[in-house]
Amino acid sequence: MENELLRLKQEAGEALENVKDAAALEAFRIQFLGRKGGLLTGVMRQLKSVAAEERPRLGQLANDIKQAVEQRFEEIKAQLGASSPKAGSGATDYSLPGRFLPFGKLHPVTQVMEEICSIFEGLGFAVAEGPDVETDYYNFEALNIPPHHPARDMHDTFYVTDSILLRTHTSPMQARIMEKHDPPLRYIAPGKVYRCDSDITHTPMFHQVEGFLVDKDVSFADLKGVLTSFTHKMFERELALRFRPSFFPFTEPSAEVDIACVICGGSGCRVCKRTGWLEILGSGLIDPEVLKMVGYDPDVYSGFAFGLGVERIAMLKYGIDDIRLYYENDLRFLSQF
Ligand code: PHE
Repeated sequence: MENELLRLKQEAGEALENVKDAAALEAFRIQFLGRKGGLLTGVMRQLKSVAAEERPRLGQLANDIKQAVEQRFEEIKAQLGASSPKAGSGATDYSLPGRFLPFGKLHPVTQVMEEICSIFEGLGFAVAEGPDVETDYYNFEALNIPPHHPARDMHDTFYVTDSILLRTHTSPMQARIMEKHDPPLRYIAPGKVYRCDSDITHTPMFHQVEGFLVDKDVSFADLKGVLTSFTHKMFERELALRFRPSFFPFTEPSAEVDIACVICGGSGCRVCKRTGWLEILGSGLIDPEVLKMVGYDPDVYSGFAFGLGVERIAMLKYGIDDIRLYYENDLRFLSQF
């Protein structure tokens, strides 16, 4: 019995030091000190069956152990109670510091997309959104890109079926909106687009904002005016613009628009590959074929359209040199915006 008492003393001591909260303390109390099944209580009951001459010594030992354990138990109970009044007394300590949750933020691409939209809304454009999963008809045919047209090669398309695909640009919204409404029209269509492409300047999903305007007597000068106001607002300074002849099947004439390099101001650097210019969008006057397909008379109406890459504009605005950073979900990067 002596051995058992000493073993219990050691066990109870160790168990007590490991107690971390009120629940564990209560479990300890039941296990060792409980009146019915408690281990210490149990051993003390056996005293009755011990030889009479041994009883006083063992009784004294058992009492000492029990007292020591109870004392340590009370100390720990007091400690837990002090650091957490809730556990000890049921009260709430309002002086404890609060637990702060970090604030979430809009993704930089979303921020820039919203900024682009609000600039065009200021110029009188309405916002419309369309489906990411698009038909071949709207993505290509309605934009004057028939089957087997070489321009399809420029778009590395993700096909769902032969006639359904993930849109490769936001231009299908031109046809969708023109079909539903009569001119005059002034719309922008922001959204995700998809191309099977991935490197430091391409991600398989990226964002575009399409813009177009249809009315009587719309000219290239109108396009230039709108894009010039947009760039000046977006980059918060009067950057020079350059319209470079290009080709898109749905615009004629077509132009790609460059801005004077935002890094070197046009003198030539690594970012602009020493040209002094950075491409920011594709644009042109809407091809009469496209107008005819939605039932507009190209002799009466004309229009311009443009499509800009949101990630690209955000990269230039914030000096980011790898497009993939946007999609790695690294909070150290994202929380800077
Ligand atoms: N859709 C074209 C692209 O993604 C951009 C564009 C839009 C060009 C509108 C002209 C007019 O490359």
